Amino acid sequence: MMIKKIGVVGAGTMGHGIAEVSAIAGFRVSIVDISWDFLNRAKDKIIDSLNKLYEKKQISEKPEEIMNRIEFSVSYETMKDADFVIEAVPEIIELKKKVFEELDNITPSHAILASNTSSIPISTIAEATKRKDKVIGMHFFNPPPIMKLVEIVPSKYTSDETISMTLDLAKKMNKIPVRLKVEVPGFVSNRIFLRLMQEACREVESKEATIEEVDSCARYKLKLPMGIFELSDYVGLDVAVDLWKVIISSGTAEDVKCTLYQKKVEMKELGVKSGKGFYTYP
Ligand code: CAA
Repeated sequence: MMIKKIGVVGAGTMGHGIAEVSAIAGFRVSIVDISWDFLNRAKDKIIDSLNKLYEKKQISEKPEEIMNRIEFSVSYETMKDADFVIEAVPEIIELKKKVFEELDNITPSHAILASNTSSIPISTIAEATKRKDKVIGMHFFNPPPIMKLVEIVPSKYTSDETISMTLDLAKKMNKIPVRLKVEVPGFVSNRIFLRLMQEACREVESKEATIEEVDSCARYKLKLPMGIFELSDYVGLDVAVDLWKVIISSGTAEDVKCTLYQKKVEMKELGVKSGKGFYTYP
């Protein structure tokens, strides 16, 4: 099976970034969301990002030519001829199941259905379809045009062919795929991220160090591109708390009692997207 057209469901930060990366790689792309407001915002962000990449000579094709390959729509009808679909809707299990059910009905029978979920088990999502062997996790990182890593997460149902097509696709997108051997909550990277958040949180809550001091250690000793609290703000503190809960409730990691993150979410201080989290954003 040759992939010619990629469908993306959800035009949020991850969805529009994934659509952009797919179009840069030469695929025809159709991105679907529930409102033209979301789609128009996504379009502007893709154009901004493509312009930046073009100015820096990180892409050679003109942004308008790449944009010509992206179709925006509020209807799943545009998924009728998609060969590979990547879902990037909010992390709500019932919503994901509904999207996959719909995609299963509308896409051609050969199409692979991937989820960008960072925590929901792929086997649960696959069970919403009649093509469990063609459902897989393809977990991108924010911002998708810049971040090289993609976690490839097969479930117990995923076929070898689906895995190899997805690995190939990630390479065509110029990404570095890491294939998980077993389906584990939080996959690999978010389990590491959880440990970093837990220790950072514990140190601040027990007054061993300030938020800024912990972040300085992460940047200047661990050489991370962002401090741990800074990265949490960037990811979204609601997303970070959800990740934390999903991994802990699965019983596969120990909890660290720390309320700093939870309190921020209760105060609706969600990080960059709300203008305030551990830091303030203009
Ligand atoms: N498109 C194109 N260019 C972009 C871009 C985008 N979407 N986002 C950033 N850039 C460019 C900027 O324009 C900038 O270019 P110049 O250097 O020419 O000005 C360059 O990238 C660097 O950006 P900034 O100067 O704004 O800041 P920075 O040096 O800190 O880089 C960053 C930004 C790339 C985000 C970097 O801080 C970084 O790598 N941070 C870590 C991000 C990370 O870990 N992401 C994963 C989060 S976890 C997740 O997503 C998954 C999950 O499951 C929760």
